[in-house]
Amino acid sequence: MEKCAIITGSSSGLGLEITKSLLNLGYKVFGGSRSGTDLEHSNFYDVELDITSPESVEEFFETIREFTDKVHLCVNNAGICEMSPLSEMTPELFEQHLAINTTGPFLLFQGLESFVIENETHIISILSTAAHYGYPNVAAYNASKFGQLGLIESLKKEWKDYKLRFTNLFPGAIDTPLWDKMGSKFSRAKMLKTEEFMAVFNFVVTAPPSIQFPGLTFLHKEGYLE
Ligand SMILES: NC(=O)c1ccc[n+]([C@@H]2O[C@H](COP(=O)([O-])OP(=O)(O)OC[C@H]3O[C@@H](n4cnc5c(N)ncnc54)[C@H](OP(=O)(O)O)[C@@H]3O)[C@@H](O)[C@H]2O)c1
Repeated sequence: MEKCAIITGSSSGLGLEITKSLLNLGYKVFGGSRSGTDLEHSNFYDVELDITSPESVEEFFETIREFTDKVHLCVNNAGICEMSPLSEMTPELFEQHLAINTTGPFLLFQGLESFVIENETHIISILSTAAHYGYPNVAAYNASKFGQLGLIESLKKEWKDYKLRFTNLFPGAIDTPLWDKMGSKFSRAKMLKTEEFMAVFNFVVTAPPSIQFPGLTFLHKEGYLE
């Protein structure tokens, strides 16, 4: 049977690379984002999604329901990160991080529940080292990713009887378009390359179905960026 995957944030960076890789592995992929992508593939469905909006998330799942009621793999990936010292951070920017990085996955998992396959569905979340390690000048990002981890850890227990696989990835900095908007001082040479991230992702996604990775931290050998 053809396997179905959904992924949030499929228009850019890691989400776009993961989408291409899943298509190569033979998945039918439903990708959600606000801006969409030019990617064309007979098994790719580019679905409009604003992860902060309950209505948009509902429409996302209604679209998927037209094709399937079973999701084998869910990649919880959409996210933002902006740098700002706490004194200059606006409440709007702080709330935007929570809306996309924390409330977004909450809405995603709510919508996902009726698509899960007992003993089968694998939920891979692209968290960050910032979900368990504090960095200066990204308090909103840190708070939102710590919050996302709390959401997942609670859900794992709540959905225990479904016997799903939950994998949490905690990568360090990766050279993606996320950094273009930040204008940060950090050297891209000290970040993982997207293909290095993908080597880990592909290892995880193709691992035997009896394995899950409750917490996989990986980063450039130069260490944490701060
Ligand atoms: N790059 C890194 O250094 C790094 C390190 C650790 C973890 N991560 C995590 O990896 C994930 C992907 O990051 P990336 O580096 O690939 O960043 P990116 O290139 O900026 O991509 C972010 C993706 O999230 C989507 N997104 C943002 N807001 C959204 C919304 N309201 N609704 C739906 N989709 C939304 C974007 O799509 P639209 O704008 O089209 O909606 C885009 O596809 C994030 O969760 C990030 O925290 C990144």
